[in-house]
Amino acid sequence: MRIPKNYYVTTPIYYVNGRPHIGHAYTTIAADTLAAYHRLLGSNVLFLTGTDEHGQKVYEAAKARNMEPKAHCDDMVVGWKAMMDKLGVRYDRFIRTTDDDHQTLVRNVLTALHDAGEIYKDSYTGWYSTSVERFWTEKDLVDGKCPESGQAVQEITETNYFFKMSKYQAQLLQLIEDRPDMIRPASRRNEVLGFLRKPLGDLCISRPKSRMSWGIELPFDEDYVTYVWFDALLNYLTGTGYRVGEETDYTQWWPADVQLIGKDILTTHAVYWTTMLMALGVEAPEILFAHGWWVSTDGQKMSKSLGNTIDVDLLCEAFGVDATRYFFLREIAFGADGGFSYDLFLSRYNNDLANDLGNLAHRGLSMTSKWLNGQVPEDAAPGEAEASLRELATQTVSAFHDGLATVRFQSGLEAVMQLVSAGNKYIDTQEPWALNRDGHTDRLRTVKRHVLEICYLAATLLRPIMPSKSQELTEKLGATEAESVRYLTALLEQAQDGEVALNGLTVGAAVTLGDPLFPRFREMPEAIAALAEPEPEPEPEPEPEPMIEFDDFMKVKLRAGKVLSAEPHPKADRLLVLQVDVGEAKPRTIVAGIRSAFTPEEVVGRKVAVVTNLKPAKLRGVMSEGMLLAAGEKEVVDLVSVDAEPGEVIR
Ligand code: ME8
Ligand code: MG
Repeated sequence: MRIPKNYYVTTPIYYVNGRPHIGHAYTTIAADTLAAYHRLLGSNVLFLTGTDEHGQKVYEAAKARNMEPKAHCDDMVVGWKAMMDKLGVRYDRFIRTTDDDHQTLVRNVLTALHDAGEIYKDSYTGWYSTSVERFWTEKDLVDGKCPESGQAVQEITETNYFFKMSKYQAQLLQLIEDRPDMIRPASRRNEVLGFLRKPLGDLCISRPKSRMSWGIELPFDEDYVTYVWFDALLNYLTGTGYRVGEETDYTQWWPADVQLIGKDILTTHAVYWTTMLMALGVEAPEILFAHGWWVSTDGQKMSKSLGNTIDVDLLCEAFGVDATRYFFLREIAFGADGGFSYDLFLSRYNNDLANDLGNLAHRGLSMTSKWLNGQVPEDAAPGEAEASLRELATQTVSAFHDGLATVRFQSGLEAVMQLVSAGNKYIDTQEPWALNRDGHTDRLRTVKRHVLEICYLAATLLRPIMPSKSQELTEKLGATEAESVRYLTALLEQAQDGEVALNGLTVGAAVTLGDPLFPRFREMPEAIAALAEPEPEPEPEPEPEPMIEFDDFMKVKLRAGKVLSAEPHPKADRLLVLQVDVGEAKPRTIVAGIRSAFTPEEVVGRKVAVVTNLKPAKLRGVMSEGMLLAAGEKEVVDLVSVDAEPGEVIR
C-alpha cells in the first residue's frame, strides 16, 4: 500500500452563475474525503477547489442581477464557501479565477505559448453555445441546438486566437495508451478514445472584447480576453505554485494525484487540459476521474440551469452532515449516475447507519456497561469465531484502502459495512446475554471486546467520511482522536502484514453508552416532508344558481311606478328618499341606494319597476315601503324603466 508523501487533489472550479446544489456538493465531498484520508495517513495534502468566475455565463448572471461581474462573484462566492463549510469540507485553498496570482499565471502561459508559436490568429465561423461556453461545428448540432445542453446556439464569425491543439493528437493518444489508468473509469477513457478517432481541431482560446469583455485580457492583444476554459483549467497549476520559466517546487504537488470532475466536463479535461500541459512541457495528472451525474427521479441532470435542485443544507439539518456525506459516497458507484430521492436517503440512513452501525455500537456499549463494569474487557478466551472476524477485518481494511486509493468509495464503504453486519451476526450467534446469565465471563469478555473492536475499526476507517460521528464513537469506546488516527496507520500495516489483530482499544478504558449514534427516523423528517407540497385543493365547482319554481317568482309583486319626488336621505349619503306613485291612493315612500348614480332631479318623473309586497323596513330611520328594480351589481348603473301607467302589474 503506497502512502504518498505529498497528495494533491482537485475539484472542478464551479461557475458562479447560480447557487450550489448536490452535484457540486458531491464532487466536493469526494475530494474532501480523499484529502482527509491522506491527511490522516500522514501525507502532506493540497486540496484545491474554488470558483470559475470569468466568461459569458457568469457575465450574463451578473447582468441579470444588475451587478458588476466582480461584485456578483464576490457575492456568490460566499454561498459556495458556506456550502463547503456546512459539509465540513476542509480545502487547503479556495481558488478564484479572479485571484491575482491566477491571472498572472494565465497571462504568462499565454505569452510563453504565443512566443513559442503555439498560438496563432485566424478567422473562424462556428456555432456558439452560451450555455456551455463553447463553439460547435454545424454537424455537432442536434436539431440546430447545442448537443450538450439542448439550448439555442448562435452562428458567429470572428477573428480569434487559436491554440495548436491538433498537433498533440498523436501524443495524447499515445499517452492514453501508455497509461490506461489515467482516465477513469474505463468507460470514460473509451469515450475519449472515441472522440480522438476523429481529427482533433485547434482550440479557440480568445473572445473579442466587443462581444464579451469579462475575462483575462490577452497579453498580446488588448482587444481580446481569454476563453474561459483556457483560463479556468490553468487554476490547477496556479494552485501548485507553478510559474512559467521559473524554478519553483511545484513538482512537490504536480502531477496531481487525483483530479475529480463530472462526466460533463470530460473532453475539456482529457483533451484540452492534457494538450495544454503538453504544450507547456508539464506532465499529465496521475488520475483524471469523471464521476456520474445525480439525476432527479425523472432522470433530468440536476443543474443550476434546470433548477430542479435538492437542498444540501436541508439534508444536513435533517439527517446530519456525516450521514449526508456517507449517503453520496455509499449510494452509487463513483462513476455511475444516480437518481436522488429523499426516500432513498431515508432508507439508506436507517439501514446502514441506524440499524447496522448504530445498533452494533449500542449493543456493544450497553452490554459492556451493564455486565462488564463499563470497561473495555480483555480478549480472555478467543476462539474460532474471533479468528474469522479477524480474517474479515483484514479483508475490510485492505478493501477500504484499495477503494480510497483507486477512488472507489462505494466498495470501500461496503467493505466496512459488511464487517459491521458481521459484528451484529456475531452477537446473535454468540448470545452474550446467555454467556452472562450462565457465568461464562471469559467468553463474555472476548465477545464484547470483539464487538467493541469492530466498532473502533469502523470509527477509524470512516473518519474521513464521517468525521464527527467517528469521533463521537471513538470517545464512547474510551479512545482519543489521536489514538484513533494512529490506529488507522496501524490497521493498514497490520493488513499489509496479513492480519488485523482487532486489539486497538485499551483494556480497562471506560466506555459510555450515551445517546444513540444514529437515531432511527420512523418517518421523513418534518422539514423534508413539508417539501412535498400538499396536493392543491381542487377548485370547488361553482354552485349552480338555485332554480326557483314559477310560483316562487309569482310571489314577488311588481308594479309600474312613477317617481313623484326625491330628496337626499338626511342621514345617509348613498340613499335617496323617494315618493313613488304605484297606482294606489297614496304614493309610497321608498328609500333607494341610488344616490351614487343619480341626483334627485334626475330620477323625478322616471317610470320605474317597483316591488310592492316587500315587507316595510326602516333604512337609517326612514320607513321604506317597497323597492325599485335597478341594474348594476355593486354600483347602480341604471333603474329598470317601464313605459306603463303607475299601478300596471309587471309579470
Ligand atoms: O463546468 N451530478 O462548472 P459547473 C454530479 N466551471 N455532479 C455534478 C452535477 C450533477 N448533477 N452537476 C454539477 C464547470 N456537478 C466549469 C469547470 S474546471 C476547470 C471548470 C459537478 O459549475 C461536477 O463535478 O458547471 C461537474 O463537473 C461540475 O459540478 C460542473 O460545475
Ligand atoms: Mg456545468
